[in-house]
Amino acid sequence: MKRTIILSLLILCSAAVADAQTTAPWIVAAPESGRSTPVQNRGEKIMAYTAKDYARLIGMAGFSEAMLKNHFTLYQGYVTNTNKLIETLGQMVKDGKAANPEFAELKRRLGWEFNGMRLHEYYFETLGGNGKVDLNSRLARKKIEDFGSIEAWQKDFMATGAMRGIGWVVLYQDNVSGRLFNFWINEHDQGHPAGCMPILVMDVFEHAFMLDYGLKRADYVEAFFKNIDWKSVEARLK
Ligand SMILES: [Fe+2]
Repeated sequence: MKRTIILSLLILCSAAVADAQTTAPWIVAAPESGRSTPVQNRGEKIMAYTAKDYARLIGMAGFSEAMLKNHFTLYQGYVTNTNKLIETLGQMVKDGKAANPEFAELKRRLGWEFNGMRLHEYYFETLGGNGKVDLNSRLARKKIEDFGSIEAWQKDFMATGAMRGIGWVVLYQDNVSGRLFNFWINEHDQGHPAGCMPILVMDVFEHAFMLDYGLKRADYVEAFFKNIDWKSVEARLK
């Protein structure tokens, strides 16, 4: 009997340790990619983010192969740096270096690299469509409810995209009220509305359009709209 109790306790402890390992803060999942790559860090297994392959977008009207390939390379850099930062920051904590200014600066940098990775995924994932809007779709009805009309929403989104400066234009849904908003995001890691879900993301950094369009940003925005896959966009709506 005593032996059975000890054995049961040992099994419970092992399960608790295993659970703690899978939920440890330095272990990251890749929920969107569904893929992850184990990397070794001083004997411990860390799940690293894996860059997604968006080669299916090559050939898309209005986006040259050279411009898309440059953009993919840039995105891959964000994934690499996100993994590097997570690994380095985790190691610094273990080494007792978390009070160093270097830790603070790298921690700040993580927001930039992580969002640079994720925003590009939101951007590329909803491209490759035919740009046709289903007027009876849930998203179309929601835009009418919150903006008055689809045209009014688009006018606001395009006007935001035409603003001087580089950044992102994001159609957000507020998770609390369900309301839709168009936001200007100046830097990857700044200005995002808390608790909101990105529904449609448009990159207006110069690398996203200058190679093909020079300073004609409006033409790029038009090409972007022609290639939106609205079904993928709507899938993000709550
Ligand atoms: Fe970009």
